Amino acid sequence: MFQNNIMSTRPFIIANWKMNLLPDEASQAMNSLVACQKRYSKGLERYSLIVCPSHESISRCNNVLGKKSSPIALGGQDCFWHDKGAFTGEISPISLERLGCTYCILGHSERREILGETDAMIQKKVAHLCAATSLTPIVCVGESRKERNSGRVRSVLKRQLRSALSHVPRRRHVVVAYEPIWAIGARHPITPKECAVALAYIHEQCQGLGIPRMYRAVVYGGSVTHDTVLSFLTKGVSDGVLVGGASSKSAEFHSLLRTIAKIV
Ligand code: 13P
Repeated sequence: MFQNNIMSTRPFIIANWKMNLLPDEASQAMNSLVACQKRYSKGLERYSLIVCPSHESISRCNNVLGKKSSPIALGGQDCFWHDKGAFTGEISPISLERLGCTYCILGHSERREILGETDAMIQKKVAHLCAATSLTPIVCVGESRKERNSGRVRSVLKRQLRSALSHVPRRRHVVVAYEPIWAIGARHPITPKECAVALAYIHEQCQGLGIPRMYRAVVYGGSVTHDTVLSFLTKGVSDGVLVGGASSKSAEFHSLLRTIAKIV
């Protein structure tokens, strides 16, 4: 999917459908997304469009996309740190790859908060995914409201990044998604200015961890809609967006895609 230089690729538009769609709804949404992509293909070919359906829907979505190379890539929403074994309910990165994925979200705050995923678990997931597959990890980091209010944004990001990225092999592409927890599913996202400050810090940390600019992209996620998307895609703010709620409602997501396809 990537060229040698991640930055020679286009801004990322990553749709995280979370657990919002049942399998038949997901294949329906993918069908209408394919139609939307065709309709605005000229404008949308400037972006890398990735959809992360829930695991049970990946196969059906892949069938909708067809065997030929599609302008829409697929990603998992999580995976485990072993290929096979007695790990009830888990999915391996190899399975995701076989199902047609080229990306995988790891360390999403909903998994950290609701399912108790720790930095150590996320580190093992990222390391195994990189060792066992050619999937590109989309590593989520971000602070809670409490951490933000107590001035701990940098220390939280630093801790999460150092842990998650410490076993990424050299010359491996990584997408880091900055998703402040307080801005997810909220009425208002972070301001582009605040976002740019956090993203600059993430770049600085990644550089220090030996992930050069050409191997990393840093995107923003949290309440991105068709109204706000352009402010986050402005040059210098981010390398793309990770869209949750708005991506699983077809009308809203198509309107977001129409908005970005139309900018010159
Ligand atoms: P919302 O776009 O619904 O705020 O979700 C963001 C997110 O969690 C994407 O991974």
